[in-house]
Amino acid sequence: MLDHLTLQQKLSMVFTVDGGGTVGATPIPPGGLGSAGYLKSPTGLPALQIADAGLGLRNPSHIRPDGQAVELPSGLAIASTWSTDTARQGGSMIGGEAWHQGFNVLLAGGANLTRDPRGGRNFEYAGEDPLLTGKIVGATISGIQSQNVISTLKHYAMNDLETSRMTLSADIDNAAMRESDLLAFEIAVETGHPGAVMCAYNRVNDIYACENPYLLTTVLKDDWKYPGFVMSDWGGTRSSFRAALAGLDQESAGDSTDTRQYFRDILPRDVQQGRVPISRVDDMARRIIRSMYAVGLVDHPHEIAPLDVAHDMLVSQQTEEKGAVLLKNQSNLLPLDRKARIAVIGGHADVGILSGGGSTQVDPIGAPPEGVVKGPGKKEWPGDPVYFPSSPLAFMREEAPSAHITFDSGTNITQAIEAAQKADVAVVFVTQYTFEGSDAPNSMRLDGNQDALVAAVAHANPHTVVVMETGDPILMPWLPDVGAVLEAWYPGSAGGHAIARLLYGTVAPSGHLPMTFPAAAAQLAHPDIAGDGADTVFQMQFRSDQEVIYDEGSEVGYRWFDRNHAQPLFPFGYGLTYTTFQNDGLHLVQCRHNIIATFTVRNTGSRAGIDVPQIYVRLPDGGGRRLAGWNTVTLAPGESKGISVPLDPRILARFDAKQGRWNVASGHYTIWLASSSGDNSDSKSFKIDGFHISH
Ligand code: BGC
Repeated sequence: MLDHLTLQQKLSMVFTVDGGGTVGATPIPPGGLGSAGYLKSPTGLPALQIADAGLGLRNPSHIRPDGQAVELPSGLAIASTWSTDTARQGGSMIGGEAWHQGFNVLLAGGANLTRDPRGGRNFEYAGEDPLLTGKIVGATISGIQSQNVISTLKHYAMNDLETSRMTLSADIDNAAMRESDLLAFEIAVETGHPGAVMCAYNRVNDIYACENPYLLTTVLKDDWKYPGFVMSDWGGTRSSFRAALAGLDQESAGDSTDTRQYFRDILPRDVQQGRVPISRVDDMARRIIRSMYAVGLVDHPHEIAPLDVAHDMLVSQQTEEKGAVLLKNQSNLLPLDRKARIAVIGGHADVGILSGGGSTQVDPIGAPPEGVVKGPGKKEWPGDPVYFPSSPLAFMREEAPSAHITFDSGTNITQAIEAAQKADVAVVFVTQYTFEGSDAPNSMRLDGNQDALVAAVAHANPHTVVVMETGDPILMPWLPDVGAVLEAWYPGSAGGHAIARLLYGTVAPSGHLPMTFPAAAAQLAHPDIAGDGADTVFQMQFRSDQEVIYDEGSEVGYRWFDRNHAQPLFPFGYGLTYTTFQNDGLHLVQCRHNIIATFTVRNTGSRAGIDVPQIYVRLPDGGGRRLAGWNTVTLAPGESKGISVPLDPRILARFDAKQGRWNVASGHYTIWLASSSGDNSDSKSFKIDGFHISH
C-alpha cells in the first residue's frame, strides 16, 4: 500500500483535524461524524473517525443529535475487579458501540499510575500498581480491538497529575520509571497490542513527552518493538522536526488545539530541506497503515446499527457488581434484610448516580445530556457533574418490594437525622466529583457538608451504611461510627441497579482496592501538590513550569507505605465479601525464568464468593513489597482449590538502565500470600536463582 502513495499523500496522514465539538461546538469537518478527531485518508484506506471513549463513546459538546452511549464504571472500578475477563468484556462493549456508530479509533486505555490519591483523572486509570494497571488496561484494549476498532493507549508517560499538566516536568530516573509507570505501559502494550499510543502533555525529565526520544523511540519503538503509531494528545504537539525525529507519528487535531499546524505546515518544509529524512515520513505512514490493517479497519469496515442498550447496560452493571469494594461490614450489617425499614439519604440516590468529568464523559441514555441533576452551576470546563438516570433508591425498592424505604436528600441534617431515627438501617450515599484538568481540590474530602451528614446520621442510627461514589480515595473521619462502607466508585450507566443488588446480596461484592486509601495527606510521598489552587481549571493546567521530582522512584502507593511502615486507612488489594476465605500452603517453584507460586484457597463461609489471593514479594536488597501476581477464584461454600500463579519476573527485578535489561538477583526473597498489601499473616522466604531479561 505504502508504495502506491506519493510523499504528499503520506504527509497527509500525519495530521488529523478536530472532528467537531472538541473546543466548544466547532463545525464537523466534511466526512466527519462529530468527535475528537478526523483524518481523510488517501483513496483505498478508511477515513479515521477518532473518538474519546475512556469509559464509553463520547459526544463532545453534544454535537451528534443521537450521540448517547453506555458508560462503564470508572477505571478504578474496572481495576477493582482484578479480572482481565471483565475488563476485556467492557472494552468489547465500548468497541462495539463505536463500530456500530461508525468510529474506528478510540482514545481509550489510560495507563497512567495513580501516583497521587488526589489526581483529577485517577478515576480513568487502573490504580497505583504497574502489573495490575498493565494487565487490566491491556485487556480493555484487546476487548476494544476485538471489534475492529483501534484503541489508543494513553497518556504516555508520567501524566500522573492534572495540576500544570501542560507545562510541568515529571522528573524521575530512568530505571525507576521503567520499574513503575513505564512498566504499566509495557505490560499494556504486550497484553493489548494497541494500534496507537498517545503521548502526554507534560514534560518528562524536562523534555515534552511528544518530542521525547527516550520515551517514543528508545523505549517504545526500540526496546518494546512497538509497531503501531504515536499520536499526540490534543494540544500536545509543540514542534515539527524535533517531534518527528523523536518518534511522534501523527499530530492530533492540530487545526484547533495546537498553536501552529506543525505537521501540516512545517513538516513538509523540514522534509524538503532535509531536516527530516523521507524514510522517517515513510515510517510514520507505514505505522498508521499497519495499524489500520492489523486491527481490521480495512477488512472489517463498520456497519451502522442501533446500540444493543440492554446488553451493553448489563455489561456495565456486571462490571460494577464485580468492582465495588466492601470496605467495612461490622456484624454482617450487609446484605440488608429485605424486610428492614430503610432510610436512604443523600447523594441524589432518588434519581441517579454520579460520573466523572472531562473527555470520558458520555451523554447519558434516557436523560438530557446534562443528566438528571441540575447544578451547582459551574460554568467552565467540564461543566456540572453529570448524574446518570440509574436510581439506587428505585432499584432498592425493586429488590425489596415489601420494605418501607424512604428518601431524604441530606441537605438538611436535622431532617436526615429524623429519617434515620425512624428506620432500622440508614443508607447514606456520598459523592466526590473529580474531573480532567484539575486535581481533587478538596484534598481527599467529600464535597460539601457530607462528612457532617454521615457523622450525624451514624450518631442517630447505629446501623448506618455508607455508599461512596468517588473518583479517588477519601478520608473517612466517621469510619469508626458507621456499620458498613461500600466504595462504589463512579458506578457507570447501570450503577444504581448494581448498587441495589450488592446491598441486598443478590450479588456479593468482590472488588479489591487498586489504590491505597491513606489515613492522612502527611503520609504521602508528596503531601502537597505544588501549584494547586488556581482560580480556574484553565489556569490550573498551565499553572507553572515547575518540576515534580519523584524521588520516591518506583516506590509508588502501597510500596511507599510499606517502605515507610505507614498505616493506611485501607491498604491496596483490600476488599471484603459476604463469605470468608482461608488460604495456605504457599510454595514457590522456579524453572529458569518461570517462577510460580502455588497454594490452596478455601471458602470457609456459608455462601459462594470470589476470592482474590495476591502474591507480594520483597527483593533481597529491600524496598517496599511489590505485587507479583494474583488470581480471581470463585468458590462454593466449603470448596477448596489448588491455585498456581506465575510471577512476572520483571517485578522481581531491578532495571539496569545502562545495560537496558532487567536483573533478577540471586538471593532470598520474602513472598507473601495475602488478601491485601497490608496482610502479613502468611509470608515465607524463598531462594531464587538470578537471571537477566533483555528485550
Ligand atoms: C485529553 C485526552 C483526550 C483528548 C481528546 C485531551 O485533553 O487529555 O485524554 O483523549 O483530549 O479529547
